[in-house]
Amino acid sequence: MSRLNEENLRIARQILSRYPKKKSALIPLLHLSQEQNGMVTNEAMEHIAELVEVTPAEVLGTCSFYEMFKRHPVGEYQINICHGISCHLLGAEDVLEHAEKSLGVKEGEITQDGKFSFEGVECIAACTEAPCLQVNYRYVNRVSSDEFDQLVTDLKNGQNTQIPKHGTLAKTRQNIQSEKLAGPAEVESASPPVWLQRNKEDQ
Ligand code: FES
Repeated sequence: MSRLNEENLRIARQILSRYPKKKSALIPLLHLSQEQNGMVTNEAMEHIAELVEVTPAEVLGTCSFYEMFKRHPVGEYQINICHGISCHLLGAEDVLEHAEKSLGVKEGEITQDGKFSFEGVECIAACTEAPCLQVNYRYVNRVSSDEFDQLVTDLKNGQNTQIPKHGTLAKTRQNIQSEKLAGPAEVESASPPVWLQRNKEDQ
């Protein structure tokens, strides 16, 4: 399924109602779509374009800019192994080589059971914890080959409850009460920010 399903469409409408401009909901809706399908499909981008009232090309422009949005299938657990300079110096290439052997797939491929895929990535900003990796963008620090195997085993057996399936942004969904939502009317009638007020007074 690519377009947002009924439940996610309801969530999408709630997200849309939080913003004075529909276009501002574009990135949250891309995340919602990726959560539903594990990736962002062309059909999903067309649906999002309809919802935020922009062209599909604009949605693609945003989606393709961010590495976190995948436009191709990945495993339930996407492992990003850092091979930036710090990680490289502390054994990242060994971890990459080990991942390939241990998972039985090459970089960018998906294991037969659909659970895992991996790729080498540039610095993920945890250089003090090298060599490190991310599973579905959750950090795992100072990883040895044995620890890599243990991580994979735990994920496979459902023993790691810290890392959700690919596409899940947060385990708890933000729920803003409807009276606190910023619809256009509310925004227009709200007091302007102090700096804007001050600028107006200076004119
Ligand atoms: S080089 Fe790996 S986190 Fe910076």
